[in-house]
Amino acid sequence: MQLIDGKKTSQDIRAEIAEEVKEIVANGGKRPHLAAVLVGNDGGSMTYVNAKVKACKEVGFESTLIKKEDNITEEELLQIVDDLNNDADIDGFIVQLPLPKHISEDKVTEAIDPKKDVDGFHPVNVGRLVVGLPTFVSATPYGITQLLKRYNVETSGKNCVVLGRSNIVGRPMSILMSQKDMNCTVTVAHSRTQNLKEVCASADILIAAIGSPEFVTADMVKEGATVIDVGTTRVPSSETKSGWRLKGDVKFEEVAPKCNFITPVPGGVGPMTIVSLLSNTLLAGKKAIYK
Ligand code: GUN
Repeated sequence: MQLIDGKKTSQDIRAEIAEEVKEIVANGGKRPHLAAVLVGNDGGSMTYVNAKVKACKEVGFESTLIKKEDNITEEELLQIVDDLNNDADIDGFIVQLPLPKHISEDKVTEAIDPKKDVDGFHPVNVGRLVVGLPTFVSATPYGITQLLKRYNVETSGKNCVVLGRSNIVGRPMSILMSQKDMNCTVTVAHSRTQNLKEVCASADILIAAIGSPEFVTADMVKEGATVIDVGTTRVPSSETKSGWRLKGDVKFEEVAPKCNFITPVPGGVGPMTIVSLLSNTLLAGKKAIYK
């Protein structure tokens, strides 16, 4: 069994990005600039956005954080999006989700210029992914493909089961794994899937993204499989200062001994998501997706 170390891989990629930024700037190019919009005071969102801004600084990007109270109107937020769309200095930006209930996340996402949508959430970018055009791929699925590649996990011709069909992980993941690059035979399993245990046990590569702690047990995993755990549920813990700890979707202790490769939680998929956002921002800065 080999542990896939997302922390180490993300550090390697960050170093590669920092090197490329240095080169761009040394050659008189523009330093990539990411803006992040944060609405309200949700603890998780604040932590994520602060980590994204810090990561930008570390690789040499410019970053701008726009913080708004949760009583901001939808119209005011759409105006901020419009301003960022038209600001030539901003290469890419994100609006951190979730948004307060009185604001339509779909409307805000669709208002972002696809050329600056480094989250890859805009339907145009999702559509480009489906038809195999260059696009911004959303962070978690992109990070997972990087882990599989960098650990030389054989994917061609293999059965891949994606557990979960969310717009930001399961569905784009299933598309990526079926494309010519990865060449998997893909099954998307979800809450209505019959014989779920058997379906999962048929997977050479099992990607669990349902947000249900320790859902995947040893009897659901084939001997020699690769298991990617996307789950990050916070569960109460008396052993940590914060009072909680992260639990994955996989019962690690009993599943790991059966695996060829497995990602831990924390330290597996999690650290890759921010680095994927950095990769997308670099692509935006270089105008590599849209000319
Ligand atoms: N909320 C949780 N994950 C994400 C993400 O990747 N991007 C944005 N914008 N919001 C999120």
